[in-house]
Amino acid sequence: MKPRPQFSHDVLDLIQQRWSPRAFSSEPVDEETILTLLEAARWAASANNEQPWRFICAAKEQEARYAKLFECLGEWNQGWAASAPVLIMTLVKPLFEASQQPNKWALHDLGLAIGNLTTQASALGLYVHSMGGFSSKRARALFDLPADVEPVTMIAVGYLGEPEQLAEPYRESELRQQQRKPLEDLLLG
Ligand SMILES: Cc1cc2nc3c(=O)[nH]c(=O)nc-3n(C[C@H](O)[C@H](O)[C@H](O)COP(=O)(O)O)c2cc1C
Repeated sequence: MKPRPQFSHDVLDLIQQRWSPRAFSSEPVDEETILTLLEAARWAASANNEQPWRFICAAKEQEARYAKLFECLGEWNQGWAASAPVLIMTLVKPLFEASQQPNKWALHDLGLAIGNLTTQASALGLYVHSMGGFSSKRARALFDLPADVEPVTMIAVGYLGEPEQLAEPYRESELRQQQRKPLEDLLLG
């Protein structure tokens, strides 16, 4: 069992529960639940209501699609992510659609959408693990992506598994308590 950290202030239980596991249970995530997560992402705020986020999503049962997403992952992430019942690639449109000028808030807004998705997941007893370790180049080749979207992260989603499923060094970090900088260090000015 992952030790829960000491929170300095009384934040929502949904926030206190969240962490990024690498061991997922074999319980599938049904289609309605996956759509609920994406719906939560869809209702995030965004600059100019541009909604720059895009997603490529596969449940393990969608074998060919799931295999293509898995193939995009780097070696480190392939070492643990195979137990995830759902893989999602997140992408952004870096330019405003109307003006074709750079949208400097696009990544910010994708982050808000993934925050929504993550909180919705926590409320449904699901866990989310974001990954920067993947190949955008492979994603472009495998999914024939339009030129106006950029892959940003991949995320593993599922119900919690057991640390014993994992080899080292993954298992050790599964049991390690989350660490954060003190709040005072984040307050500037
Ligand atoms: C954008 C982003 C990229 C990440 N990339 C990886 C990754 O490639 N592989 C991995 O195992 N974890 C990855 N993580 C997970 C972080 O290491 C993790 O969120 C951080 O250590 C804090 O732990 P916690 O989420 O359990 O609180 C990533 C997280 C984020 C938000």
